[in-house]
Amino acid sequence: MTRLTRSDLDGLPAYVPGRNLADLTRELGIAEAIKLASNEVPYGPLPGVIEAVTDAMLHSHRYPDMGSVALRDALAERLGVPAERIVTGCGSVALAETLVKATCLPGDEIVYSWRSFEAYPIISAGAGASSVRVPNTDGHGHDLDAMAAAITERTRLVIVCNPNNPTGTSVRKAELDRFIASVPSDVLIVLDEAYRELVTDPEVPDGLETYGDRHNVLVLRTMSKAWGLAGLRMGYLVAQPEVTAAIRKVLTPFSTSLVAQAAALAALAQEPEVRRRCALVVEERERVTGALRGFGLDVPTSQANFVWLPLGDGAAAFGQVCESRGVIVRPFQGDGVRVTIGTPEENDVFLGAAEVALKS
Ligand SMILES: Cc1ncc(COP(=O)(O)O)c(C=O)c1O
Repeated sequence: MTRLTRSDLDGLPAYVPGRNLADLTRELGIAEAIKLASNEVPYGPLPGVIEAVTDAMLHSHRYPDMGSVALRDALAERLGVPAERIVTGCGSVALAETLVKATCLPGDEIVYSWRSFEAYPIISAGAGASSVRVPNTDGHGHDLDAMAAAITERTRLVIVCNPNNPTGTSVRKAELDRFIASVPSDVLIVLDEAYRELVTDPEVPDGLETYGDRHNVLVLRTMSKAWGLAGLRMGYLVAQPEVTAAIRKVLTPFSTSLVAQAAALAALAQEPEVRRRCALVVEERERVTGALRGFGLDVPTSQANFVWLPLGDGAAAFGQVCESRGVIVRPFQGDGVRVTIGTPEENDVFLGAAEVALKS
């Protein structure tokens, strides 16, 4: 039969959705299973978001403002950059995809650390760009020297995921300074800072404050995590006007929905509450890390809202034991397990399951 789709996509692993919460709850016959697999912050929508979304629904028969003007203005004020340097999109992953479209032709290269965010191989392949994966260090972090060495004449983008999903590790200012200085000026450095609000190590720089004015740096942020809008899809990027103008040209029209814009505006008014919630998550992150290390696991220090259990070939079995006890985690077989920090009660259930899994 004649082939209708691209053969180069055959090698790309299909997206594996996490275990369904309602299904697992039913199967186990328990009050409610717990999902610690997608790195959301567990405290519900921020105050004012539900009302803003409800109001916006009155206009949902109309197209949204394609330029997200009010939202970009609010972000511009908060971030201290002109609005023309900001692009919003339906999640930062969609923006990353658009960025690849705006920068890469088939055969161009995108350098990133591996293991890192699962979307990078997908968005690279989608544009026919080649992924150049640089193995993580033994400590599960980025090997910035090796990443710099992997840059060739075909490289268009180099992605630094800071903190790194799924390992939680982060790169500090001195090493990032050195790396950024070594990257050729025609290669765009993408600082993916999805978990920036949860960083507590003062040595881990805010990419926008520290490097945002450089002409080849782009900062990617999301409102899915600390800002509680994962289900509404809202992300943004900040880059130089020349870069944002090109990205806007290939942006899917109207992809930042009316309700997402309204929700993001309401959420931005809640910064103190965001900070309070992040502090709770950080406290729990330290507690969960300490408990897991107490079980003998070499858990890297996380600056995000998840922890990494380097279980190698034991990852899937660990995930199954957790599921049998009502907790959905995110195993990467052969490598490790990522576990999102939930509420203290959820984390206690997880730690109980982890203890059983590690002793079995
Ligand atoms: C490192 C990283 N970047 C980007 C994203 C995408 O976030 P969203 O598309 O929800 O904005 C995620 C989500 O898990 C992430 O971990």
